Amino acid sequence: MREAPVGVFDSGVGGLSVLAEISRLLPDESLLYVADCGHIPYGEKSPEFIRQRCRLVADFFQQQGAKAMVLACNTATVAAVADLRERYPHWPLVGMEPAVKPAAAATRSGVVGVLATTGTLQSAKFAALLDRFASDVRVITQPCPGLVDLIETGELDSPALRQLLRSYVEPLLAAGCDTLILGCTHYPFLKPLLAEMVPSTVAIIDTGAAVARQLQRLLHERGLLAAGPAQPAQFWTSASVQHLQDILPLLWSGSGRVRRLAM
Ligand code: DGL
Repeated sequence: MREAPVGVFDSGVGGLSVLAEISRLLPDESLLYVADCGHIPYGEKSPEFIRQRCRLVADFFQQQGAKAMVLACNTATVAAVADLRERYPHWPLVGMEPAVKPAAAATRSGVVGVLATTGTLQSAKFAALLDRFASDVRVITQPCPGLVDLIETGELDSPALRQLLRSYVEPLLAAGCDTLILGCTHYPFLKPLLAEMVPSTVAIIDTGAAVARQLQRLLHERGLLAAGPAQPAQFWTSASVQHLQDILPLLWSGSGRVRRLAM
């Protein structure tokens, strides 16, 4: 069981930013990755729809013998993590949420900006996160429709992407935010662009590394950490295999086979 793979899931390629953190911290783990590119973006879909998709993927990882699952998607986590925990009570499951707690601790101006999907920002789980950790700071939320779709094309520096990103970030800077939370796993791929757009005094925070550490903790507690060597990562997409194959080298430094998952 220790050498069984870990299943990592996102609506698309965003979770590859988390996969990279997992592979850096836990190089002996064999990784499976499912991108539900056929149904992206989740940010504008209903929670019920997302829960159904997550169930299908969780069942698939179970069939593949995965010893744990990482929901490498903030939007899927708010919609489905409770449902999946109920469905698989004994399966180590790691979800993710915007880094409100570290951002509230880090801000000096007292103003924090959150870039995330509409689904994440409208959720009760996100409201609870703000109540719990951000009562002393001003949090400005910015839904970013369209951004994920552009990132999915694999063009991370197009004029359209720059323009859209700028339109989302500028109001946050104008409001005095000195800490920017990337509350969607697609957005870490925009860090080079963001670094050009925001002053160097603005901290940019995401939770990929924290999720990798949480996975490490859970596997360690259960005696499930792999001794290695890891198998090459395996990828599945619910849309075009060719497209994922084409853009994978831009977003993932390792190798890996891509297959189609009809679901
Ligand atoms: N990557 C996902 C997240 O972390 C969402 C992308 C989407 O809208 O599908 O929220």
